[in-house]
Amino acid sequence: MSERIPLPFPTGWFCVHDAAELAPGQVATVHCFGRDLVLFRGEDGGAHAVEPYCPHLGAHLGVGGVVVGNAIRCPFHHWHFDGSGRCVEIPYAKRIPPAARVAIWPLVERNGLLFVWYHPDGVAPWWEVPTVPEWGSDEWSEPTVRRFEVKTHPQEMAENTVDAVHFQFVHGTPRTPEMEARIDGHVFRAHQGLTFTTPQGEVKGSVEIQQHGCGIGVTRFRGIVDTLLLITGIPVDDELHRSTIRFIVKKLPGDEEATRNVGRAFVSEIERQYGQDIPIWENKRHLARPVLCDGDGPIALLRRFYAQFYPGAPAPAAGERAAG
Ligand code: FES
Ligand SMILES: [Fe+2]
Repeated sequence: MSERIPLPFPTGWFCVHDAAELAPGQVATVHCFGRDLVLFRGEDGGAHAVEPYCPHLGAHLGVGGVVVGNAIRCPFHHWHFDGSGRCVEIPYAKRIPPAARVAIWPLVERNGLLFVWYHPDGVAPWWEVPTVPEWGSDEWSEPTVRRFEVKTHPQEMAENTVDAVHFQFVHGTPRTPEMEARIDGHVFRAHQGLTFTTPQGEVKGSVEIQQHGCGIGVTRFRGIVDTLLLITGIPVDDELHRSTIRFIVKKLPGDEEATRNVGRAFVSEIERQYGQDIPIWENKRHLARPVLCDGDGPIALLRRFYAQFYPGAPAPAAGERAAG
């Protein structure tokens, strides 16, 4: 853990790759949770995540490893490992040693993305990656993607979402919106009324936030146009977080140009807000006991939600909620 942000890596599902960017036969290495993880897709289309180091003599499977059929072949002595991590072939041995296996990480493919399950002790997943029904629908635009690497921890970025007051003082929004939030097991839900300022005057709208564990956020803005943000984050190491925002906009019937313009305006607004938040995130400390006041929004509730994903922490009471 870093001294500036003394929080462990949280357990859960985290997006590691775009599904389309790992074609059958491809191998990719991603750095996350302070280590390398090797992804490969077999000829049958199944994607897998394995620990990088071959149990034979320690070669890195992501550096020169090749997909052969549905297995990955180590570059060093050509041992083959299938998606379950088992060694299925050694070209020069009569017998495969029973201990010849690489550890695997659970992986699912959903909403066009690959998610891996992280648990420090290898405990199996106890919840599922949500399906976003709007994703891939004809009624919605193609996603626009923005990626950010920020020297922070996922909890610090998540706190920003419920830190109602900072929207006014950091982002210059007209007034602090009301926010209601509750913990629903592994899902944190928040709802907020919003006022959009347009050249034609103010328009009432809302934002609905679902945070599934610590790595997947689905935010729906309703108002002038409906917009959906799929926000995935993954810790790279103790102090570096990779965040990817994918925006889709509900198409305005018969007006592609307007849909594009709304999308562009939204993306630039989010980029503006991230630009303002990043210097704060990258220089602040995480205070275990912050001095909060009554107008702060549900920051303490979000911290209780996060605590369930840390090693040894008790689960929060179901249905716990806060407003303010
Ligand atoms: S180190 Fe992988 S096959 Fe020898
Ligand atoms: Fe912010």
